[in-house]
Amino acid sequence: MAGRWRNSLCWSDVTPRAAYLNRRQIMAGAGALALGGIAGQGRAATGADDLTPNSWDEITSYNNYYEFGTGKEDPRRNAGQMVTDPWTVEINGLVDKPGSYDLADILSGVTIEERLYRFRCVEAWSMVIPWQGFELADLLTRVGVQPGAKYVAFQTLHRPAEMPGQRSPILDWPYVEGLRLDEAMHPLTIMATGLYDKPLPNQNGAPLRLVVPWKYGFKSIKSVVRITLTDTQPPATWNQTNPREYGFYSNVNPQVDHPRWSQATERRIGGGLFAGREPTLMFNGYAEEVSQLYAGMDLAKFF
Ligand code: MTE
Repeated sequence: MAGRWRNSLCWSDVTPRAAYLNRRQIMAGAGALALGGIAGQGRAATGADDLTPNSWDEITSYNNYYEFGTGKEDPRRNAGQMVTDPWTVEINGLVDKPGSYDLADILSGVTIEERLYRFRCVEAWSMVIPWQGFELADLLTRVGVQPGAKYVAFQTLHRPAEMPGQRSPILDWPYVEGLRLDEAMHPLTIMATGLYDKPLPNQNGAPLRLVVPWKYGFKSIKSVVRITLTDTQPPATWNQTNPREYGFYSNVNPQVDHPRWSQATERRIGGGLFAGREPTLMFNGYAEEVSQLYAGMDLAKFF
C-alpha cells in the first residue's frame, strides 16, 4: 500500500494555499448549462456565457489515463498505440438482451448530442469540455434493465500490449468503475464519443467513455468495453486502491475535503499563471439537477 500511495491521484498538482477568486457569474450559469443539455437544445451553453470551453489542445494534452503513464502528457504521447476499431462492448448481467454489441450497432440506436459540461478532477483542477455523446439511459433502456438491477459496473479495455501502463502494477487492471442505477439513468450521464465535433482522441478515452459531470473525474471511466447491471455495489478502482481517500460516490463537494487537500476551490486549466482559484460548486454546479438523488444521505459519510 505504501507503493500505491505514491501513485494516488495527483497530490503534486494541488496548490493548497493558492489565492481564491470568487466568480459569481459561473455560479449563476451552472444550472442553465445543465438544463439546456437535458432539453437537448443542441449546444447547451445558453445563459452560462462565461463558461468558455477549454481549448482542444488543453483538453487533449493534459490528461489522466494511467494505462498510458502517470504523467499528464503521457496519454497523448502513448495512446496512439491503442486500436479502437473494431470495438465491441459486452453488456451483461441483469439485462433482457445481454450480448457483445458492436460500437456501430450501439451508435445506430442513440441520438448524439453536444453537452458543454464542467469537469472537475479530484486533484482540484477543472476544465469546461464540449463533449458529443448520448445518454447512457438510452442504451440501458434498449438492452432492457431487469427489475433486480441496482448498480451499473463499467470496465476499461485490458490490453497491455497496447497500453504500457498496464504492464506495471500501478493500479489493479483493468480499471473499473460503478454507478448506482439511478445515477446511471440520470439525463446528465452520458457516454461520450467526441470532442469539438471530432471523434474522441484516444487519450480522452476513445471510442466511448463515461461522463458524469457532478462527480470527480475519476468516475468518468475511459475506453469502456464492458457494462454490467448488478444488484450489488461494484468495485471501483480508486475506491479499492485507497478507500479512505476516494469514496464510491465521489460527488463533487466543496465541504468534504480530501484527506490531503482542500476541495473548496479549483484551478481552472488554461486560466493563466495569475488567474487564482475559483470556488468549487456543490455537485460541480449541477445540484439543482442531481441533489434529490442523495436526499437524506450523509454526504460526508457517503463521500
Ligand atoms: N479511465 C481509465 N481507464 N484510466 C484512468 O486512468 N483516469 C480518470 C478518468 N478515467 C482514468 C480514467 C481520471 S483521474 C480523470 S480526472 C479523467 O479520466 C480524466 O479525463 P481526461 O483526461 O479526458 O480529462
